[in-house]
Amino acid sequence: MQDFADRLAVITGGASGVGRSLAFALSEAGARVLIADVDADALAQTRDALQARGARAEARECDVTDPASLEALAALAFDELGGAHLVFANAGIGAGEAGPLWGYADSDWKWCFEVNFWGVVHTINAFMPRLVDQGSEAHFVVTGSANGAFLVFPDQPIYSATKAAVQAVAEALYHQTVRAQSPVRVHALFPGPHVVETGIFNSGRVRPDRFAKPADAPDTGIRSSDDLRRMLEAFGMQLETTHPDEVARTALDGIREGRFWILPLNPDAEAQVRARMDSILDRTDPPIPSIG
Ligand SMILES: NC(=O)c1ccc[n+]([C@@H]2O[C@H](COP(=O)([O-])OP(=O)(O)OC[C@H]3O[C@@H](n4cnc5c(N)ncnc54)[C@H](O)[C@@H]3O)[C@@H](O)[C@H]2O)c1
Repeated sequence: MQDFADRLAVITGGASGVGRSLAFALSEAGARVLIADVDADALAQTRDALQARGARAEARECDVTDPASLEALAALAFDELGGAHLVFANAGIGAGEAGPLWGYADSDWKWCFEVNFWGVVHTINAFMPRLVDQGSEAHFVVTGSANGAFLVFPDQPIYSATKAAVQAVAEALYHQTVRAQSPVRVHALFPGPHVVETGIFNSGRVRPDRFAKPADAPDTGIRSSDDLRRMLEAFGMQLETTHPDEVARTALDGIREGRFWILPLNPDAEAQVRARMDSILDRTDPPIPSIG
């Protein structure tokens, strides 16, 4: 797809970070946007900011852990707004796990899998049948993470496990749509090339009571990329960051070029991915990756 003009783009997690930047970039490219998020206040703020720029933007509260919520979003897009041609399964959280993984709270595991993994599955289930029936070129973009898809960082096992699972789903979806010669093209978006400055470190702001973290559960205490930077500096490491607007530009370029892998990796991460792949094929012990 070269021209986004008048296309409807649906973005889960569209109120903040990568999703918010995608909404701005897509509307600047002429698309209509439907942003969906569980955070009602941030959603309204983002919709207002988009509309103030002249964007044709709609917002809908949506919880990606709830299939009925995604079904209602898809019905809005297809029954009332004329159909969608770009769908971004983007909502995601970090549970803030810390320390030995046998000490994590079940609610950390469950919340992270509900949003990061099941959220993508529910989005696929709600939108793919409609996109396929629509019969015209469309794009389904899954936001993954190199953290899990290609590297297993020792300190975020829950997040990594969700993103490893999401990668398998995205790749299988790609294979199935190609094999079926479907007009729906699947893309795997990896925000980067560095840690992206978004609200993800403060995901607790949208943590529902049913997944409340027990008071004694281990927690990183990191609430922002600045907190992470300070922590790394204490160990003599540097943190480079990327603005989410850059991720959005990379995503739109990747869609225009029809690429599955929308994967801006920094040279250090690329070397670590190669080292891990080498260790698999050489049957040597996996090297421990590091973020800084
Ligand atoms: N920030 C990074 O460095 C980075 C790196 C790789 C991948 N990612 C991925 O990018 C995606 C976007 O995250 P971000 O970094 O922009 O963080 P963010 O916190 O700024 O945005 C995530 C959005 O998802 C929403 N959300 C959370 N739970 C939800 C739910 N149940 N239903 C609907 N919406 C929900 C939040 O309210 C928020 O608006 C995530 O999938 C994340 O895993 C981020």
